[in-house]
Amino acid sequence: MQVRKRRVAGRVTATALALALAGAAVALNGQARSGSSLEAAASSVAQADSPDSGSITIDNLAFTPSHLTIAKGGTLTVTNNSDFVHSITSDAIDGNGDPLFDVLLPAHTANIPVPIATLGGGTYTFFCKFHGQMKGTLVIDGPPDGSITTTPKFEQPLVQPPKLHGKHLKIVMRKAKVRVLPHGPRTPMLTFGGTFPGPTIVRRAGAYTKVTFVNSLPRKVGAVTIHQHAGHHKSKFDGQPSSHLIRHGKKLTYDYPLRDAGTPLPAALRFYHDHRMDRTARNNWFGLQGMFLTTDPHDAKMGLPHGKYDVPLAITDRSFRSDNRLTDPFKHMGSMNGAPGMETVGDHVLVNGRYAPYRKVKPGRYRLQILNSSLFSTYDLALSNGIPLTQIGTGSGLLPHPVVRPDITIGPAQRVDVIADFRQQAGTKVMLTSITRTDSDVTAKALMQFRVKDGPTPKVKVPFNLARIQSYHVPKKVAMTWSFGLSSGSHQHWTINGKRFDPRRVDHRVKLGSTERWKLVNDSPVTHYIHLHEELWRTLQRDGHPPPPWEQGYEDTWRLDPGESVVVAARFTDYTGKFMIHCHMLDHEDDGMMATFKVVKHR
Ligand code: C2O
Ligand code: CU
Repeated sequence: MQVRKRRVAGRVTATALALALAGAAVALNGQARSGSSLEAAASSVAQADSPDSGSITIDNLAFTPSHLTIAKGGTLTVTNNSDFVHSITSDAIDGNGDPLFDVLLPAHTANIPVPIATLGGGTYTFFCKFHGQMKGTLVIDGPPDGSITTTPKFEQPLVQPPKLHGKHLKIVMRKAKVRVLPHGPRTPMLTFGGTFPGPTIVRRAGAYTKVTFVNSLPRKVGAVTIHQHAGHHKSKFDGQPSSHLIRHGKKLTYDYPLRDAGTPLPAALRFYHDHRMDRTARNNWFGLQGMFLTTDPHDAKMGLPHGKYDVPLAITDRSFRSDNRLTDPFKHMGSMNGAPGMETVGDHVLVNGRYAPYRKVKPGRYRLQILNSSLFSTYDLALSNGIPLTQIGTGSGLLPHPVVRPDITIGPAQRVDVIADFRQQAGTKVMLTSITRTDSDVTAKALMQFRVKDGPTPKVKVPFNLARIQSYHVPKKVAMTWSFGLSSGSHQHWTINGKRFDPRRVDHRVKLGSTERWKLVNDSPVTHYIHLHEELWRTLQRDGHPPPPWEQGYEDTWRLDPGESVVVAARFTDYTGKFMIHCHMLDHEDDGMMATFKVVKHR
């Protein structure tokens, strides 16, 4: 269909975004961020007599009207008078997981038709893919249409990437065709070892590991660099963005001791991915990501689900052309590193590299270790049967105590360790979904399906005391404040403390062996997910209060809404040298929202 072919991964030009952000900044500082458009929707008057045609005008960053009613079978057109490209995209999805309507709205274009004629009666919320704050509601007046399905077909089984267990591993990076979509040709990707995601490295917590990465990627990909996310290792093995690179045809062996000050790093689902300066988004989009799972036999002894009841899931989104190749959202980048408006969002959500997979499960409890390896997208995870998830850990280890959560927000690079309860569910199908939230731009999607069969299941216990978080003295004084913002002027960029990333600059020095308290502040108009490398970080405060229970374990990536702050602390152990702090929305990172801290022997 025309509409689908015209869909692009959400990237807009720098200029459009600069303007867009200037508009968005009005709603800065929290409260009214997305509330404003909802209020607008509520206050615009619905038409009473249900006309059979409707039109929407965009003059700036809003749909006018943002709430309209059209009789079933009627028509809708949009006129975009603004300087930016927008889209009108429904939150509801069809049997393929595609939005019910999704039309690109070029700037200064009148009367663009939106295909609504086949929609059944009901209320459809819509939004602009490029400006999440633009929202609206379309009411189709008429009988509901049973033929509309809002879930994908779940045609392929969930797969696990090959597992690597050895002490010294070798992973060859190369181009390969991989099965992603259920039908049609396989998708050419840049891979670790020929699969997407790459092989899952599975190691006992604390077991010294070496991985030799070989760059056999096409020459034009250039040099790459591998980062073990949430690891603790020498600076030269950290995946430095512009040094210690793996050039075409070359290899590099990374040492991962998986220990901190002699103690095993807590078992958790971490991951490894490319970290090349200016190219991280592109290299991850095309496939350079894999899971890195560490295990602790004590977990099973405590009673947590293990073996086939412990399922790693990597969730990520991509967009495809009609021949199943990935779209290339980066081809127009040229010499420009990025721009504030670039948001690489795919329209198909993949789980372990497959679109809308299913997995057969027994009517028992499962441990799901979930990674969001999307470049930019956030999900709000929930089970479709309404049974809450019990969170037992972050991506850096178990929490002190389990936390029951009806839904869990997970941003780029974050991981959550949860127990899903399928007891009493035999014979049902339960979807893992991302639900719509009114306080964010997350839209509803079905991610995968669990088919609950019958049969015996092992006994599981989720103990109240899960992990002991080290307590140590943290100085009262904030040693460093990192503020995440947007530079002003005609060429805007994402910044940290007003500066774009420069690998030659050291932004903060820390003495080896010391403990520091840092404050992370979001001074920009949009949400960021801030990642700190290298140490085992703890969250001391969020917005001046003790952090919520799910942030009381070790953490490495924090959600920061506009105006929010977190206070964190770590001990700087074992290694000197340069490490990164950055936004893990990879478009923001590539645009320069990254800085360097250096651990030194003497200050
Ligand atoms: Cu997962 Cu610095 O990155
Ligand atoms: Cu960001």
